[in-house]
Formats: sequence, structure tokens, C-alpha cells
Amino acid sequence: MSRIPVSGPNRRAAWLALLFLLLLPSLALAHGEAGRPQKNGILLAFFGTSVPEAEAALKTLEAKVKAANPAYEVRRAYSSNIIRKKLAESGQHVDSTVTALARMMDDGFTHVAVLTSLFIPGEEYHGLARTVAAFDGLPKGFDAIALSQPLMSDPADMPDVAAAFLKTVPADRKPGEAVVFMGHGTHHPGNIFYPGLQYYLAHLDPNTFVGTVEGTPSLDDIVETLKKRSVKKAYLIPLMAVAGDHAQNDMAGDEPDSWKSVLAKDGIASTPVLKGMAGQDAVADIYLKRLAQTLDHLK
Ligand code: CO
Repeated sequence: MSRIPVSGPNRRAAWLALLFLLLLPSLALAHGEAGRPQKNGILLAFFGTSVPEAEAALKTLEAKVKAANPAYEVRRAYSSNIIRKKLAESGQHVDSTVTALARMMDDGFTHVAVLTSLFIPGEEYHGLARTVAAFDGLPKGFDAIALSQPLMSDPADMPDVAAAFLKTVPADRKPGEAVVFMGHGTHHPGNIFYPGLQYYLAHLDPNTFVGTVEGTPSLDDIVETLKKRSVKKAYLIPLMAVAGDHAQNDMAGDEPDSWKSVLAKDGIASTPVLKGMAGQDAVADIYLKRLAQTLDHLK
């Protein structure tokens, strides 16, 4: 009996042919639908704002996202129904997150990264995560979809995040002048990132404080410390993507219970900074980092 010698180049060719046959089905699967070209998208998932000056911060971030990711089509969604309704009345249409994702699906996007503007992993973030998860694995849907982490989410880069927030403090601040950041705050356990941020800020600048509108620490907590340190002047800065309603009214408004008024009652003059964090270079860099991490998940 003679055997066909399987060795040398013949053997290598046989292995290559086998490898090719094994890879063929998985190559085809890489496209959810046969022959469909890859289409990359980024959805900016914002809470939204109806204040045009506040929207400037979102536009700034949007432009940076586009410049950093030229191979991706960038779209925007607002999660707030109240704000979308208000905008619609003045003829401005912005999709909700669900509608924006459904539209991207219909428009043939294959790979979608969702960038959230949220600061903490609270109730809204978990709701957004459920929405994004609902679009994962739908028939004729995306091949891949991923959601970014909030700005404050990774203990490892909290020192960088705290430093980025500090870079938004006006340069004309003098020694002895305090900085009070106003976060939103929530009853959700994710609120812990606000006192967490206070810890990292204290290491960088001991005269810097974090308060929240609806969670802890409260403004009262901060005022106690400011009085003990005989602070006479403070900068008020919204720890929010846009300087919208909370910043303009709860923080800088003329009502007696605004943060500016409460501090004034205790002899502390304040300078409100009405700029959204999304429009600040140092914070936008953190958003771009979160987005880059999300794009990595799509690969
Ligand atoms: Co609110």
C-alpha cells in the first residue's frame, strides 16, 4: 500500500484550507445582516436643556466628540420629556433616547456608542443602561452597542476627575477664597460619589467643597465649615453638564433660599459661575476618555 505523503508545503496548505473553512462562518457573522456595511455611530445622551446659553456647553462637547471621532456619525438625544416638549413648542425637535436609538437602528447603524453626560451612577444612569440593554441583540439590530460610564464612576481616576473640576475655577480666585460646587444629588445610593468627590478635592485644595440640591452633603453642611474657617468669599460652580435651571435659580437666583442668598445671610459674598461643565475643556477631556473606553468595548 502506498500512502500520499502529507508533509512539508502540502501539509501546511491543508491546514490553511481547514483554518479558512473554520473561520468562514464567523466572518459572515461579523455582519449582523448579510453584506451589510459597517456603520459607526455615537449617541450623545443628554438630559437636555431649554436654555439657549446653557445649550452652548452641549454644543461645545458635541464639536469635540466629532473632531475626535471622524469615522463616527454623531447624534444627540434628550431624556427629559418636559424639555423636549418645551423645545417642540418653539419648533425645535430633539429625539428621546429610545427614539434616537430606534432611528439609528432603522438607518442601518451597526456599531453604536452611547455617551452619557451624567455625573454619577444613580437612578437616571441605571434607567439609561436598561434602555441601551434593550437595544442589544435585537433582530436586524446593532452588531454592537455600548454605554459609557458616568463622569464619576471609577475610583481609580477620581483624582483626575476632581482635578478636572478644579480647573473650572476662575483664575482670579485669591488665597482664602472658597469654592463651592453644586451637584444635583439623589436619594439613590449613587449619591455617595458626592462625598467621595469631597475627599479627593480636599487632598488637592482644602478650601473646596461639594454640596448637592437633593442629596448629601447639603448646603447647610458646607456653611458650617465655611463659618468655622471665617471664609468671606466663595465661587459657586454648578457640578452639572449644563448651567440650566438648577444653576440659574437654586444656585445663583435672587430668591431667599438660593445658595447665593443663603451664603450672603452668613456674610459670605459669592461669585456664581454660570457655565456648564460639559463646555469646560478639562471636563470635556474626561467625557472624551469615557467615550474612548466605550468605543473600545465595541471592538
Ligand atoms: Co433636578
